[in-house]
Parts: sequence; C-alpha cells; structure tokens
Amino acid sequence: MRKPLLFDFLDAFFNAANVFAGVNNHFFSITALFRVHLSIFIVYNKNDNKIQKEHTLLLISNAARPSSLDLEDFLTHYGDIFEHSPWVAETAWKQGLTTQHDDADVLADSMGAVLRNAEIDEQIAVIRAHPDLAGKAALAGELTQDSTREQAGAGLDQCTAAEFERFQRLNQAYQDKFGFPFVIAVKGLDRHAILDAFEKRLENDAVTERQTAINQIIQIARFRLHMRAETAA
Ligand code: GUN
Repeated sequence: MRKPLLFDFLDAFFNAANVFAGVNNHFFSITALFRVHLSIFIVYNKNDNKIQKEHTLLLISNAARPSSLDLEDFLTHYGDIFEHSPWVAETAWKQGLTTQHDDADVLADSMGAVLRNAEIDEQIAVIRAHPDLAGKAALAGELTQDSTREQAGAGLDQCTAAEFERFQRLNQAYQDKFGFPFVIAVKGLDRHAILDAFEKRLENDAVTERQTAINQIIQIARFRLHMRAETAA
C-alpha cells in the first residue's frame, strides 16, 4: 500500500471511530484519537526507511521532499519540470503542498492541473517553450538536460540524413499550421513511431492539437518527476 493511502485509510477509520465515540464521551474520544495518532506516527517513522525503499519509483527523496521545501528551494529542485516555465511549479507550490505531494504522481497531477487551468495564451507559451524535435537547437547542443536525454533516448540524435530531413519538413509544416512546435512524450517511442505520430497529428484541428500538446507536456513532466525520484532514491 502506498504511504499516503495508508494515512488516508487510517485517518478515515479513526475519524469515523471518533465521531462514534464522541456521541457517548466526547473527551474520551479526543484523547484516544490523539494517543492513536501519536502511536501511528512513532510506528510509521520507525518503518519509514523500509517503506521508502519499496516505493522508490513513487516517493521523492528525503532531501528534496516537495512538502518540506520553501518556494526558493522548491523551484531549485522542480522549477524546470515544465520546460523553461517555472511559473507552473511556483503556482502549484502557492496552492499548498502536503506530504501527499511527496509522491511523484500526486505532484505531477497538481502541476498538471495548474497548466490545464491556465489561460490559453499561457498554455501556448509553455508549448512554445519546447524545442523542435531533432531541430536546430538539438544540433547546436542548446537543449536543456532533460530535453537532451529525452531526444537521445528516442534515438533522435541518430537520425539518418533522410529522417533528419523529414523531421525538418514536418517541424516546419506543423509550425505553419498551429503556430507552436510539435510536442510528444517520447519515452518508450523510437523515431519511426514519433514520425508516424507527427504525420497523424498534423491532420488535427487547432483546438484538438493544443489539448493534445498540453496532455503530452503533462506526461513529460510526470516522466521527469519519476526520473528525479528514481535517481534521488
Ligand atoms: N518531448 C520530450 N521532450 C521534448 C522536447 O524537448 N521537445 C519536444 N518538441 N518534444 C519533446
């Protein structure tokens, strides 16, 4: 069971017990509740290391636990999760982070909701912050660390001359049609699958494609957070 779910379950259980006991003896119920929570806290902390080891894929390391960071440190660790757009992480932090956000997926959901609820021009600015796939910035070695790793992971640094030319042609056609670059979460895809998706998405209308790009960016953020959690564990 994941750590936050365990706490959710215990909270729900003891809250229900508290309400029930409170009907008979309010004072007893409050003190009992306090004692139970204290003992859970002690047991939980004793097992903390063990629980963390079992969930290295989900929990973010002690050193960079999102819920424990002030805004400046949070942005140092997570400000770059959305490409050149630290305001997404900043807004999520300002909305309030609890220990539940020490889970990569929960944090990805919260940051993703910030982007989904943003104004259309803010969403488009985040899409435009992404470099072209196999584009000029990649050739010039000007990508962020995450983008370099993602593009290389999909083999985009190994394109043949013909594939490279196809990417340039598609990048231009996509920019001309939508006014922002093609973004796709490339993890698990090779360059052939990416080129196929590229051709298909060029057929979309502008609204569908903006929403698709935002979904893909949130997926990229999720992968990046998982990567941080794994490497920090
Ligand atoms: N998908 C994963 N990383 C990137 C990137 O840097 N640029 C684009 N366009 N898509 C991506």
